[in-house]
Amino acid sequence: MSTLSSRTAPASRPDGWWRSSVVYQIYPRSFSDSNGDGIGDLAGVLSRLDHLSELGVDVLWLSPFYQSPQVDNGYDISDYRGIDPLFGTLEQFDDLVAQAHDRGMKVVIDLVVNHTSDQHPWFLESREPGSPKRDWYHWRTARPGHEPGNAGAEPEDSAAAFAPSIWTFDPKSGEYYLALFSPAQPDLNWENHEVREAVYDMMRWWIARGVDGFRMDVINLISKPEELTSGRPLAPDAAIHAKSFNGPRLDEFLQEMNRETGLSDLNLLTVGEMPGATVEVARRVTDPERGELNMVFTFEHVAVDEGPGGKWDLAPLHVPRLKQNLAAWQEGLAGVGWNSLYFANHDQPRTVSRFGDDSPEHRVNSAKTLATVLHLHQGTPYIYQGEEFGMTNAPFTEISDFADVESINHHTLAVAAGVPEEDVLRSLATKGRDNARTPVQWDASEHAGFTTGEPWLPVNPNHVEVNAEAARRDPSSVFAHFKRLIELRHAEPVVREGRFELLLPEHEQVWAFTRTLDTDAWLVVANCSSEPVEVPREALPSVDGAELVLGTHPDGDPSFLAPWESRILRLAR
Ligand code: GLC
Ligand code: CA
Repeated sequence: MSTLSSRTAPASRPDGWWRSSVVYQIYPRSFSDSNGDGIGDLAGVLSRLDHLSELGVDVLWLSPFYQSPQVDNGYDISDYRGIDPLFGTLEQFDDLVAQAHDRGMKVVIDLVVNHTSDQHPWFLESREPGSPKRDWYHWRTARPGHEPGNAGAEPEDSAAAFAPSIWTFDPKSGEYYLALFSPAQPDLNWENHEVREAVYDMMRWWIARGVDGFRMDVINLISKPEELTSGRPLAPDAAIHAKSFNGPRLDEFLQEMNRETGLSDLNLLTVGEMPGATVEVARRVTDPERGELNMVFTFEHVAVDEGPGGKWDLAPLHVPRLKQNLAAWQEGLAGVGWNSLYFANHDQPRTVSRFGDDSPEHRVNSAKTLATVLHLHQGTPYIYQGEEFGMTNAPFTEISDFADVESINHHTLAVAAGVPEEDVLRSLATKGRDNARTPVQWDASEHAGFTTGEPWLPVNPNHVEVNAEAARRDPSSVFAHFKRLIELRHAEPVVREGRFELLLPEHEQVWAFTRTLDTDAWLVVANCSSEPVEVPREALPSVDGAELVLGTHPDGDPSFLAPWESRILRLAR
């Protein structure tokens, strides 16, 4: 242990401490700006620690603040050990860790190692044919019979997440490199052990600075399919993108990473972002016996409101689909692994606009009820900045309103493919990632107290009503409700460890379940709709003599729930 880590690290991290923790995600660019350049920064985070302490969260997860050309807002890293001057300095980072630790909060950082920036020195070197780093990325010759660089000469036909193809032509060598997201984010070649060692070395460096864990960006993409790694020519329909999820060496790489960096021995929090991971994959990866990760972010429940066309194909929310999916993960990991619980992050629309009702009439109660439902599941809850006081989607209507590389790429491709622009814009307004990235609304002043300058993305005009200051003052606010939910997780073993059982799985409005630990039995019953509903009491345990632990409304008639009313009840023994 270096002196640095003994200075900043908490005295000890008890085993499995993350099982009773609530994590708060900070997207630094949009959190709080200290110097008036319109972009949030580390000093801005430091200045808001009181808000986070008051909320009562245990862990801060910081989205990337590293050196980056900012093509994907920092998920394109050009120096893993440098802080981008946009965000501040390494001294400020150390100070943030120390001050968070002083307040009993831990700090988890984003680990983006499926890919680097195309400006990372490793990639610049890899572009030189014959360089020792050539094999650190995935290089391929053009499709046989095609002129390199011409349209249609890509080694195979996969589209990238933020670009038309996963293959980008590099005139320097006449070859193509693999980039599953944007061409500015070339994928590292994890088959090469030097790449893996460089990553582990960098992780050890951050651990020595006192970080308490890692959120691992698209970590289930690191092991690429055999078709690619074998080096044999690719068929045009090789579908390398689709086959890159949960690849053959994923578990091996995660185990090696854990051993080489001491993730388990040091009791660090590890959460792997895993699009396309099934319950089976997650059960394997989060089984503590296997020494991989503590938990994963699943994507199944954030796909319940999409049609067969994927993310941009809007479909109405069907409550049974959402609750049944969460229940399947509760059951699937029970007794073996561990769930992470989230509705929102920097890639998803705002919870209350998406799954609730963000009209003035229902915003507060629907935000509270959705929080109740999520936080009463078993797992580690994640709160995304602004969710704790019910921030809503952005009122964007023109393509020029959007800043995100994903949205802009989708707009270009969909319009070129003949999709009416108004449909494209409706999809972006509903699902676009910029919804989560408008500045945090701290108060009712101009620019919401986020910045004294021009914010990089406009502040939502509803900050006059919806803001942290107003919510902190109001004992019936969404913020007050989140505080109570966090306290319950800390105080009540049944909330952390209780067995989960979904009731009324087919009911279209009522989301009901029990949590049970020894003789303690809790019932959560929630109306997830903007209409009143009759409670099918015959299908629920008796609430005679039950204690209302937390509700959105005063204790009322057990047979009815008002729109977005929810109750957490401790049942009589
Ligand atoms: C993850 C991040 C997202 C980013 C992508 C590529 O999904 O959460 O913001 O664009 O990976 O790094
Ligand atoms: Ca700034």
